[in-house]
Amino acid sequence: MINIKLTVNGNICKLTVPVKMTLLDVLREQLGLTGTKRGCEIGECGACTVIMNGKTVNSCLVLAAQADGAKILTIEGLAENGKLHPLQKAFLEHDAVQCGFCTPGMILSAVSLLERNPHPDEYEIRQAIAGNLCRCTGYKQIVEAIKSVAIKRKHDDSNIL
Ligand code: FES
Ligand code: FES
Repeated sequence: MINIKLTVNGNICKLTVPVKMTLLDVLREQLGLTGTKRGCEIGECGACTVIMNGKTVNSCLVLAAQADGAKILTIEGLAENGKLHPLQKAFLEHDAVQCGFCTPGMILSAVSLLERNPHPDEYEIRQAIAGNLCRCTGYKQIVEAIKSVAIKRKHDDSNIL
């Protein structure tokens, strides 16, 4: 067992975990943050995507020990004061959610994209979500949802992210 400290969605968490436990298991099983989904567990599907120290990672491939001291953002940390994040709203408005299994990871990849590139074109959006597989939507609505937030941002100088 090892002791680790994480800052998850702004909350400091001190935990004692098995050395081989993944960040995905810590989030889901120790912290109850089940918005981060368990899919393939081999880094292929992106369902487990979270943002760690500002970059997206597949949490199934990160050991909890490697994440010691890190800042983690999961889907549960996006909404503020009960208000959905603009990307969450856009996914709903564009019917970009069907079964919803890919949605948390997809949205976090989009958050990361818009933070480093506020005005991506369609190619850049598709590249950014290339590691997030969706079996339901065909991606069109997802791309449209992300695009709509980027366009809104272009026409609105307020910092919406
Ligand atoms: S569960 Fe991590 S990439 Fe599929
Ligand atoms: S909405 Fe079902 S996998 Fe994407």
